Amino acid sequence: MSKRTLLVTSALPYANGPIHLGHLVEYLQTDIWVRFQKQRGHVCYYVCADDTHGTPIMLRAISEGISPEALIAKVGKEHLADFTEFGIVFDNYHSTHSPENQALSRLIYERLRDGGHINSRSITQAYDPVKEMFLSDRFIKGECPKCGAADQYGDSCEACGATYSPTDLKNAVSVLSGEKPITKDSVHYFFNLANFSDMLQDWTTAGHLQPEVSNKLKEWLEQGLKEWDISRDAPYFGFEIPDAPGKYFYVWLDAPIGYMASFKNLCDKQGLDFDAFWAKDSNAELYHFIGKDIIYFHALFWPAMLKGANFRTPSAIFAHGFLTVNGEKMSKSRGTFIKARTYLEHLNPEYLRYYFAAKLSAGVDDIDLNFDDFSQRVNADLVGKVVNIASRCSSFIHKRFEGQLSDVCSEPELFQQFVDANQTIAEFYESREFGKAMREIMALADKANQYIDEKKPWLMAKVEGQERELQQVCSMGINLFRLLMAYLKPVIPVLATEAEKFLAIESQPWPVTATPLIKHAINPFEALMTRVEADKIQAIVDASKENLQATAPTVKAKQFEPIAPTIEFDDFAKIDLRIAKIIKAEHVEGAEKLLQLTVDIGDETRNILAGIKSAYAPEALEGKLTLVIANLAPRKMRFGLSEGMVLAAGPGGKDIWVLSPDEGATAGMRVK
Ligand code: MSP
Ligand code: ZN
Repeated sequence: MSKRTLLVTSALPYANGPIHLGHLVEYLQTDIWVRFQKQRGHVCYYVCADDTHGTPIMLRAISEGISPEALIAKVGKEHLADFTEFGIVFDNYHSTHSPENQALSRLIYERLRDGGHINSRSITQAYDPVKEMFLSDRFIKGECPKCGAADQYGDSCEACGATYSPTDLKNAVSVLSGEKPITKDSVHYFFNLANFSDMLQDWTTAGHLQPEVSNKLKEWLEQGLKEWDISRDAPYFGFEIPDAPGKYFYVWLDAPIGYMASFKNLCDKQGLDFDAFWAKDSNAELYHFIGKDIIYFHALFWPAMLKGANFRTPSAIFAHGFLTVNGEKMSKSRGTFIKARTYLEHLNPEYLRYYFAAKLSAGVDDIDLNFDDFSQRVNADLVGKVVNIASRCSSFIHKRFEGQLSDVCSEPELFQQFVDANQTIAEFYESREFGKAMREIMALADKANQYIDEKKPWLMAKVEGQERELQQVCSMGINLFRLLMAYLKPVIPVLATEAEKFLAIESQPWPVTATPLIKHAINPFEALMTRVEADKIQAIVDASKENLQATAPTVKAKQFEPIAPTIEFDDFAKIDLRIAKIIKAEHVEGAEKLLQLTVDIGDETRNILAGIKSAYAPEALEGKLTLVIANLAPRKMRFGLSEGMVLAAGPGGKDIWVLSPDEGATAGMRVK
């Protein structure tokens, strides 16, 4: 087996939402494959990053009242924590909002431009006059021009399936402001994909893609390649285009470059040679694992961009299907839109790693997580078949032989059969036929159990003079268990490591030339894995059920109140913002909305009337810190004099939040 050098990626998850079980199909598939390559002794790097740019992330940051940088930092941490707890080990996890990515995006753009692959021209688009933003199809809603269904997006109707352009919608409104969109012109930059028609014609049929993907691309190529709009107007969270102020790279331009950027970051940390992986003459293998929804970007745009910018192209792109749960699309109302975090709160991640492995193939078919099948398979295979071998055999070894395995291998042929299986299993792993690999391994587990059933060590244990045979049979069982764990190590690494501790052995390489453990002392057996409990699954479903009311568009629209007209810095400087401590809060007789607050702003106290009664009981406020405008002219109100203003956020009703400053703030501090 000659040593290979591989660079492997998974698609970069968007930073505007949490990791869910659908995502995990991909990250687990990739992680298993990478672990397999490493166990085989190859040099393999697995890099990924958060995909941080674009309008949804910008808007979410606004609605959360934080900067996009703060949002992506927070989400990036959450993503990595979820991945890590699922045993997904990246050699590097980075962000597309990084200096490496900016530099590489710029480099690639400039090379494409200088190679004559970038055009610019003015286009007309829908525009929100209130938010002062161009609106993509997803940010426009109205009535379907075909069937009249209300509340449909600007590109297609979910009721009748019609596709159309946003200008065809009736009574269209901007999702952001509720306002009627106008149209407006602006210059956009385009990548001329058609320049790469011949190259893509060859590349997509040269064995870099799965056959079904290759066929799909043939259709697209026959329809002709259109130019690709790679720019977006401000306001946009992304990288400004070097020679086009106010224009930004569309998120999908810099996202795949994020693969390179994450690897560049790793190279800088570890002193690796970036060019050895990305230069045109590279000998390294480059693989991208992706979902079937993003094939167009990876199998057309990406190779063309790389080619046009004089970099190597991928060795292969591996697309997988989508996850369904109990045969249906994941659904928030059914509680089957399950976040990685929710799963982790209830069940062992290795159950899911095994289950997905058992279901995965090299194709793009969707895979179904069926809850009954899930428990049954994990319980029957991992607990019932594999772990059971160790527990059956180790008890005799400890009770009767002080933990010592026998001094001969009594069934060398059986052992050799298990070793020989490594080749077939490796081929299945290599070709991402994980389901077939699992079936092969479970067939071996059946064989091991059969052997023990035939020998009946529990009977031998009762007969005098059969000690030696008893020890041999149990040692054989343990040795077979050891090989099974070597084969399962990419899939269930934690269990495999526990098993290595129990067996008192080093981390197992791929067992090409394994020899049995002879006269070897093992450690006491502790339950390596328990059965899936059905009530835990129900708990996950219950915890995942969302009240959909909360995400209805009207509420969303409210969060995006239009930004007020710009003020000058001098206007801002006039405002004296202070941290204030609420000393007393009381009801105001006869007032429906008001609370009377006595606040300490350092060297004086003030009385402030605040319209926050719907959200706070007075006693909940006392002792809290808040922000006040200290130099607002006193205002005579129906219920008394208000000597300042408390700052609060939220749409109203119960949803009002008095901003509480960070620890360390004290009353009277000026806020700047
Ligand atoms: N940010 C882009 C990818 C950029 S790659 C340069 C993106 N992000 S995503 O968060 O929506 O999806 C990340 C990966 O998870 C994609 O490959 C996508 O196909 C996969 N999946 C997301 N939902 C999925 C399922 N329900 N089932 C299986 N895979 C799914 O796309
Ligand atoms: Zn319709």
